[in-house]
Amino acid sequence: MIPENQDNRKPAYLVLARKYRPKQFHEVVGQEAVVRTIQNAIKENRIGHAYLFSGMRGVGKTTVARILAKALNCEHGPTPEPCNQCFMCQAINEESLLDFIEIDGASNRGIEDVKALRESIQYEPMHSRYRVIIIDEVHQLSRDAFNALLKTLEEPPTRTVFIFATTEFHKVPKTIASRCQHFVFKRLSVQQIVDHLKFIAEKEDIEISPYSLKLIAEAADGSLRDAETLLDMVISFSGSRVQDKDTEEVLGVINRNLFEKMAGVILRGESEQIFPLIDSLVTAGIDLKYFYSGLIEYFRQLLLVRISSRPENFLLLSAEEIKKIREMADDFRAPELLRYLLMLQDGESGLRYSSQPRIFLEAWLLKLCYLKELRPVEQVLQNLTARKPGTAGSRVGEPPPTSAKMDERKHARNLTGSRSSGPKNHLNSNTNNGPAVFPDEMVNNFYLRVMKEKPVLAPILKMASRVEVNSGNLLLNFTRDRKHYADPVNQSLPYLNRLWQELGGQAVELKLDGEAYPISGTAPSSPERTPDPSVKETSPPSLRNFRDEEARNLLDDPKARALMNSLKAQVITVKKKNGT
Ligand SMILES: Nc1ncnc2c1ncn2[C@@H]1O[C@H](COP(=O)(O)OP(=O)(O)O)[C@@H](O)[C@H]1O
Ligand SMILES: [Mg+2]
Ligand SMILES: [Zn+2]
Repeated sequence: MIPENQDNRKPAYLVLARKYRPKQFHEVVGQEAVVRTIQNAIKENRIGHAYLFSGMRGVGKTTVARILAKALNCEHGPTPEPCNQCFMCQAINEESLLDFIEIDGASNRGIEDVKALRESIQYEPMHSRYRVIIIDEVHQLSRDAFNALLKTLEEPPTRTVFIFATTEFHKVPKTIASRCQHFVFKRLSVQQIVDHLKFIAEKEDIEISPYSLKLIAEAADGSLRDAETLLDMVISFSGSRVQDKDTEEVLGVINRNLFEKMAGVILRGESEQIFPLIDSLVTAGIDLKYFYSGLIEYFRQLLLVRISSRPENFLLLSAEEIKKIREMADDFRAPELLRYLLMLQDGESGLRYSSQPRIFLEAWLLKLCYLKELRPVEQVLQNLTARKPGTAGSRVGEPPPTSAKMDERKHARNLTGSRSSGPKNHLNSNTNNGPAVFPDEMVNNFYLRVMKEKPVLAPILKMASRVEVNSGNLLLNFTRDRKHYADPVNQSLPYLNRLWQELGGQAVELKLDGEAYPISGTAPSSPERTPDPSVKETSPPSLRNFRDEEARNLLDDPKARALMNSLKAQVITVKKKNGT
């Protein structure tokens, strides 16, 4: 894929997922069992005529299928490792070999398509040792098409190898599956992804911290393609020197703000927030012990800032961060903060040895929440005396931290809001709204669901400058300079609408600097006529005809779209570039 290049100073950009598609078996990350079995079969000349590759998106199915096609046809083969130099290897790399056919099961679902295929393969392959036919997303074929395919598998044409790939194995008819050799592609571990991203970053001369890589790997949730696409997004956002805060912003993941949020919840005694907050940690795959020690450190900072006149001498934090901590710490007396810190420390070993760390954490943090209610008797008495008219003002005499001041601040804290003073919700990261006048809970739930179901859409939503709920409508406003984030949101409106309604809302409205966002034909904002989003999102009709699997994937993939939008890129031609 060659994106259109609008900025002439920069070279045309090749997306990482494309550039770093492994060309040999040994480059494939993970999937050792699959690779070994296939290589052995080639060595022992036991090549099957039908393979079924199953596994989630972006774990190497298409990649391995292509390498297998080369291994079978390499002029030095069949060989367990293709040379990538000979005519056959190159032809397959360039997708110009007639006997190498890639079919997208999603857009060629019908019986006619399979019939045409059967027709075209009734003769022996002309140019190659093995004709290789890859049918991607094979589970999407219609029933008739499956039956036609079954006939083909019963009388397999000579020297023809079928490779079916699917993300939904359970939807592949048993009759088909039983005639194939089935390989399960595993999701990749965070470590495997981190290592691979590191390798790519080095090759690309990108400066990025292990922390950022880990955030990306966690967000990718097992898919190497997603990880590479996210890395692309982060790079396009921050350039070749990636700052952690940029990664955090792009991914919208946990950072100091999470500790700030949890500390606020505890100090305000908002016990009802504990369960959802911990749930969001678990959903985001955050290690609870890691989180807990971060929280302890945060309380230490609160105490230090409260006590010390020069906290900057002791804390490696920016002036801005210290200011934030001070705002929270100032509402409490040092002994109070100390009490929280000591209790947090008390919980540490319990958490470490608990067989159910999540439940332990929930219970322990709830206990901390209730600390506020369990104030020492002297203090309660002091408060009572202090409430007499005329004695207000002394710190001791201040009402407990449910005061109006705290209530006001309540709205200023949120999970992501590094720059936020807006309403308290997960989405609102860049705003200056007044106090919340809408159901935070619903927006939070909405966001958490998106994070769970569309982990890549979630961070993009966070790029909204303003999030409001207005008579049941969820309003997402993007500033003009972030239009490239609004575009993918627009594409996903049917999904977002459905989700919002499911949670009890009316509709989702997308705006650009306050103006209604140009709604494309494929993404109506009207809730009633929202078409089935799964259909809409995976196969916009205008893209149906894209032959090239990559290009189609790319266009269908909201992440890639966001990336392309952010690069102001377009697919103008679908062509293989000889990347490394
Ligand atoms: N196991 C893997 N090893 C190395 N790269 C991978 C792997 N899986 C995916 N990728 C990367 O993701 C891209 C898409 O992978 P692909 O094989 O098309 O995934 P799938 O067909 O399983 O959806 C590849 O071009 C490559 O950059
Ligand atoms: Mg694929
Ligand atoms: Zn070769």
